[in-house]
Amino acid sequence: MNVLVVGSGGREHALVRQLAASAQAPRIFACPGNPGISRHAVNTEVDPLSNDAVAAFCREQEIDLVIIGPEAPLINGLADHLRRDGVAVFGPGAMGARLEGDKEFAKEVLASAGVPTPHYHAFSNLESALKHLATVELPVVVKACGAAQGKGVAVCSTREEAEKHIRLCLQDQVFGQSGLRIIMEDCLFGPELSVLIVTDGQDYCLLAPSRDHKRIGEQDKGPNTGGMGAYAPVPLPADLYAQIDTRIVLPVLAELRRRDIPYRGVLYAGLMLTEGGPQVLEFNCRFGDPETQVVLPLYQGDFLDLCWTTATGQLGRHLQGAPRSAAGVPAGWTGAGLTTWDRHAVVVVAASDGYPGTYTRGKAIDLPAEEAPDRWLIHAGTRQGPQGLVTDGGRVLGAVGTGRDLPAARKAAYELLDQVHFEGLTFRRDIAAIGKEGR
Ligand SMILES: Nc1ncnc2c1ncn2[C@@H]1O[C@H](COP(=O)(O)OP(=O)(O)O)[C@@H](O)[C@H]1O
Ligand SMILES: [Mg+2]
Repeated sequence: MNVLVVGSGGREHALVRQLAASAQAPRIFACPGNPGISRHAVNTEVDPLSNDAVAAFCREQEIDLVIIGPEAPLINGLADHLRRDGVAVFGPGAMGARLEGDKEFAKEVLASAGVPTPHYHAFSNLESALKHLATVELPVVVKACGAAQGKGVAVCSTREEAEKHIRLCLQDQVFGQSGLRIIMEDCLFGPELSVLIVTDGQDYCLLAPSRDHKRIGEQDKGPNTGGMGAYAPVPLPADLYAQIDTRIVLPVLAELRRRDIPYRGVLYAGLMLTEGGPQVLEFNCRFGDPETQVVLPLYQGDFLDLCWTTATGQLGRHLQGAPRSAAGVPAGWTGAGLTTWDRHAVVVVAASDGYPGTYTRGKAIDLPAEEAPDRWLIHAGTRQGPQGLVTDGGRVLGAVGTGRDLPAARKAAYELLDQVHFEGLTFRRDIAAIGKEGR
């Protein structure tokens, strides 16, 4: 099978690595890929945002399956374009991707599905938004409706802060088109949880529940980043698995079918576990980064087969053949009672000093000579220079460790990271350092 993975970050390296481990030994291409990916795949210079260029590449190389990593090409309708050419695609079309690309639309879907989500009001008009702001309870959350690369949301404890973000969106238009409509919603409290639902529109399975660490600083201080680390599975009380399944996953998938929105790929639900139960903060239409780095190694089935059957509407067949837990449920969790995992994974991100602000690129990277079966490096922002590997982004590498429990996985990740060197390397020491209460 010829497989094309679209994207160039840590998520795509993790995807390619997992595909390469398949017993089917696929030929893998990546566009544009990165130096870590090149160990398992052929990188190509095709632009993911040119639907025609990707389609032409698929014809040339007789690609059977395309897996689209980032949201931008999904929102841009790449999946629809390729499907019209008869290529099997893992990733929703533009209609399904709107769940991520338009937060107001996601709210409407949640409301009609009866799924718990914070109350909200939407605005395009500055005066109306400010008038509403004068009446809301604090804290309040202001969100640009469109995709804003993780910078469109402000959790505001004062009206001044909220007004500033509203003006950034509607007046200064710093997020362009994406910020011309905003929502203001109630602020919730509680730990967050990432749930990745793999679905072909009919059947589904849930990957290990994970949690990322968004802030740059330890103890969650400082500005938000793309994610400084993650771990999976997140220990959850057994009844919470069933609640997430019955109150969130099933109604959302049923609502997508009711609206005749086809969805083949992964639907990422960003949840907050409040005292009143889990609520949906947002949807993404693709794998999370860095959550993918820790969720995929825990998947016990053949990952290529999972992607292929999802893309071709045969996920039910894959799930029937998937390895089963002692409780008799497929290797993903389904709310049917599988709440124990025999492996755990942690990823710690090595970032460039200054990130998420300005930082310099091109620093020489010194890597450990060998990886081990329980630990490996994921490339996120690296480049092959004339003299060797150099830094080429804010998030440079992810050190993944796995183990029988979370402390063992954590130890493996940090031991590996200790052997990575480049000028200005920074990382958080408290990734997956969770307390007794499981947070
Ligand atoms: N209603 C809310 N209450 C409290 N915190 C929120 C709320 N909505 C979002 N957040 C916080 O802001 C972060 C980013 O919001 P999210 O909706 O996930 O947008 P995006 O990932 O597109 O930036 C969340 O991970 C969460 O920490
Ligand atoms: Mg988010």
